[in-house]
Amino acid sequence: MRPLRKAVFPVAGLGTRFLPATKANPKEMLPVVDKPLIQYAAEEAEAAGAEALVFVTGRNKRSIPDHFDKAYELEAELAAAGKDGLLAVVQNILPPEVSCIYLRQAEALGLGHAVLCARPVVGDEAFAVILADDLIAGGDGGCTAQMARIYERHGCSVVAVEEVPPEDTGKYGIVETREGPDGELRVTSIVEKPRPEEAPSNLAVVGRYVLTPAIFDKLAHTGRGAGGEIQLTDAISALLEDEEVIAHPFAGRRYDCGSKLGYLQATVEYGLKHPELGRDFAAYLRQLSGGMDAWTTG
Ligand code: UTP
Repeated sequence: MRPLRKAVFPVAGLGTRFLPATKANPKEMLPVVDKPLIQYAAEEAEAAGAEALVFVTGRNKRSIPDHFDKAYELEAELAAAGKDGLLAVVQNILPPEVSCIYLRQAEALGLGHAVLCARPVVGDEAFAVILADDLIAGGDGGCTAQMARIYERHGCSVVAVEEVPPEDTGKYGIVETREGPDGELRVTSIVEKPRPEEAPSNLAVVGRYVLTPAIFDKLAHTGRGAGGEIQLTDAISALLEDEEVIAHPFAGRRYDCGSKLGYLQATVEYGLKHPELGRDFAAYLRQLSGGMDAWTTG
């Protein structure tokens, strides 16, 4: 089994839940403490062994390639000012052996369509898909690395799953599973955004996938589904007719940074864990929570 070498980052969505912050800036560039979401995602891919990062971008996304490009002027300024620590930070956004490839999705036709746009670059090999707005503080080398190991053992597609409150099934792709003899959960069906009364379970697919290249033919034949978009979920459902798909209840904690509340939770928790800020931030939060009622009853 060839190890996973490529990771696809669909970043062409409109980010409507975060307007107006996402009017001119992609949501993937929202910072959690001091790093944009897309950098956490790129680091997770790199930790899983990815050598090529494929970004499927759209309008207003220029800041993403800018972030990963070399910043000559900034580096010269930092070097001249003797700010060696900061210089190292901007020079080491990604290791030199990792390459970035940028593709455009001309029209936001859905996540499935964005993944299909990556076909000419991914070719005939398995690949990871990472949705950067799902920030995952994952154990075992990160969520994508956990999934890459499952792919290397079983040679089939893997989706990351977690239980969600039953009333929230309409926000996710939802899977039905059975436990295989090896203890892994096999997906038996998958459906996009079912109403709670129609959902087969409350096991939701979150923004991490490892997909075999067979997904591309399925995507090419997938029509518009929920919300009028070409849904990756529908293509995975078609893939299930030919191949096994494993559902992986990942080790780690997910923050839905596409939603304002999830983003705030991530900011607070990453702030508390931050090596330079954590202690002072914790003291500030303790002080604030003492008088919290005055803030929240307004
Ligand atoms: P979302 O469902 O979160 O949509 O997309 P969105 O447009 O980004 O955000 P909201 O819901 O309007 O606030 C899931 C992922 O798929 C990508 C998004 O960038 C995000 O990473 N996507 C979605 C595309 O790349 N292209 C699309 O046409 C749609």
